[in-house]
Amino acid sequence: MKYYTQFENKSLADQLIQKALEYKSNPFMDKTLGAGKRIGLIFLNPSLRTRVSTQIAASNLGMEAIVLNMDKEGWALEMEDGAIMNQGKVEHIRDAAGVLGSYFDVLALRAFPSLTNKSEDSEDFILNQFIKHSGLPVISLESAIRHPLQSLADMITIDEHKNKERPKVVLTWAPHIKAIPHAVANSFAEWSIGCGHDVTITHPEGYELDERFTHGATIEHNQDKALADADFVYVKNWSAFNEYGKILCTDESWMLSEQKLSKAPNAQVMHCLPVRRNVELSDEILDGSRSLVQHQAQNRIYAAQAALSNILK
Ligand code: CP
Repeated sequence: MKYYTQFENKSLADQLIQKALEYKSNPFMDKTLGAGKRIGLIFLNPSLRTRVSTQIAASNLGMEAIVLNMDKEGWALEMEDGAIMNQGKVEHIRDAAGVLGSYFDVLALRAFPSLTNKSEDSEDFILNQFIKHSGLPVISLESAIRHPLQSLADMITIDEHKNKERPKVVLTWAPHIKAIPHAVANSFAEWSIGCGHDVTITHPEGYELDERFTHGATIEHNQDKALADADFVYVKNWSAFNEYGKILCTDESWMLSEQKLSKAPNAQVMHCLPVRRNVELSDEILDGSRSLVQHQAQNRIYAAQAALSNILK
């Protein structure tokens, strides 16, 4: 594996889940695999979990991790090929990625979408410019359209907590005060469908996700109906895709609460964090026995370790 940027196939997903569980039992079993190697963690956007869990994963493999908060500490990057750089951007991606390519053995990048330029975001333009110009193996730390390390951690968490071979997994839209990217929802749908779960996606009309990620899922606009008999409920806000980046609904009744789960008594609840308490999810759920959010966050370490070790090997 040279690039870890998306779901590839069930066989590789199963292999990564298995490896991550082995690392969870014995984090230092490959403690010299990355000896003498360096990973650059490049952040164009903020992060808590992704930043720290990936550093711990690299350290567990004996690898040096260097974090660059490019949005705050680097030069403003021009991304367009052939640009005449007579405005505010100081350094071209060709030059910056080329330099990073000579400093590191593996590059990892977080690059959120603009939520204004739909075609560039949909093509994962920034991630692909780094891939093209660095020449290195690349791990996505969340791109414009996918968050594959989060999704692998989510699949590990479902694997650990499922009570049946093919659980019913419901991805439900939740309210939010800001326009939020689609990456976590897209990626969760892509991985959960790819891993063979029985997936239902529920959201208000107008919040349809890009169909590239939802093929094979049931779409149900009635949230109560969608939640019935769920084994896992994944809560996430996203902005509209068709009316790109817009907030079309702020209906508070979409917030997940205990009352909403009355027809799903065994449902376990997931969220990637950070979460807006009592906007997306109620305190009673987050602090109650249904919540898997801390398990998901812990599994981010072993997801990153499994992906990184696959690249190193
Ligand atoms: N879930 C997640 O990616 O968290 P951070 O944005 O804090 O990295």
